Amino acid sequence: MENLKIKIAYRNTPVELPPNLGFGLIFTDHVFEMDYAPEKGWHNASIKPLKDLALHPATMFIHYGQVVFEGLKAFKTISGEVVIFRPEKHIKRLNNSSKRICIPQVDVPFVLNALRELVAIDKDWIPINKYEALYIRPFIIGSDPFLGVKPSTNYKLIIILSPVGAYYPEGFKPVKILVQDDYVRAVRKGLGECKTPANYAASLLAAEEAKKRGYTQVLWLDGIEQKYIEEVGTMNIFIRFKNEVVTPKLNGSILPGVTRDSVIQILKDWGVNITERFISLDEIISEYKKGNLLEVFGTGTAAIISSVGTLGYKDLEMKLNPVEAGELALKLFNELTSIHSGQNKDIHNWLTYVENKPVEII
Ligand code: COI
Repeated sequence: MENLKIKIAYRNTPVELPPNLGFGLIFTDHVFEMDYAPEKGWHNASIKPLKDLALHPATMFIHYGQVVFEGLKAFKTISGEVVIFRPEKHIKRLNNSSKRICIPQVDVPFVLNALRELVAIDKDWIPINKYEALYIRPFIIGSDPFLGVKPSTNYKLIIILSPVGAYYPEGFKPVKILVQDDYVRAVRKGLGECKTPANYAASLLAAEEAKKRGYTQVLWLDGIEQKYIEEVGTMNIFIRFKNEVVTPKLNGSILPGVTRDSVIQILKDWGVNITERFISLDEIISEYKKGNLLEVFGTGTAAIISSVGTLGYKDLEMKLNPVEAGELALKLFNELTSIHSGQNKDIHNWLTYVENKPVEII
C-alpha cells in the first residue's frame, strides 16, 4: 500500500459553525479518496478539497446499490485533544459489510491512519459544545460504468466529515417510536447486518407513515415471524425490565452497533444484569401491562443514546417517560459523552488520539 499523499486546500476564512448544527447539513473542507482496481489493489490515496463527484450515469452503484458505509465520530476533549471513538471497530465493520456485497477489503491500519490525517486537517470543524461532534462518513462505491448485474471491478472509498449536533429533531428529549408490522426492513441471511443503503431505502416508507402518526422512527420486527423486535434502523434498541436490561441478540438481520457494544460493556462494568436475547413484542406488551417495563432506549453513533418516551403498536401507546429521558438512558448518555470529552477515564481504550502533526503539502 502506497503512502498517503496529502494536499491541503487553503481556507482563507476561519471556520464559523452555526449555533444549531442539526445533523448532516454542513461539510468540512476536505475529503479522503482512494481507488481500487484489480491489478493495483487500493491505490491513489489522497486528501483533497471537497468537491462534487463526477460520475458516469451508468456507474454501477447507482443502479445496483453496491455501496457500504460507516458512521463514526471525532471529538475535542476538555484538554483540547482530538479523539476518534472506536475507529478500528468501525473499519472492521466496514470490511464485514463489504464482504457481504462483494466489495474488496480495505487495510484497517491504513484506513485508520487516513481517518486520523483527515480529521487532523479539518480539526477546526470539530464543535466543542456538549453533545456535538464531527461525524465521519466513510463509504465505498462500485465505480464501473456498466449496466450488467455483477460486482463492479473498480471501487472508490471516500471519507467525508460533517460537524453535527443531535440526530433527532427532538434533540436529546425522548422520542416516540412505532413498532412496525406492515413492512419488514431485513431478514436473516439478507443484508440486515450490513451497513448498506438498501436497508435504509427499505425503511423509508414505514418511517414516513410513522411520522404522519406523530412518531419519530420505526422499531422493526424480525422479517420472518414478525414476532421479535430487532432494531430501529438508525439505532439498536435496549429494554429495561424490572430485573433485567435486554437487547436483541445479533441474528444476521440486525446491525452490530458499535454504540450497542459499548453500552453492553458499560452496563457490565456497572454490574447491571444485561442480556442479549430474542425479545418478543408480546413480552414487551405483557410486561408493560404488569408495570414491569421501565425504560426503552436506542443506541447509535448518530443518536448516541436516545430515550424512547412512547412506544406505539397499532392502537396501543405504551407511555414510558414521554417528557424527560429515562434514568438509565440518561446515565448512559452522560457516561458515553464524558468518555468522548475526556472527563471520564477511557478504561477500555476506546479513544484513538489524532496527532496534531503538520501535514506534507504536495
Ligand atoms: C449512525 O448512527 O452512524 C448511522 O449510520 C445512522 C444513520 C445516520 C444512518
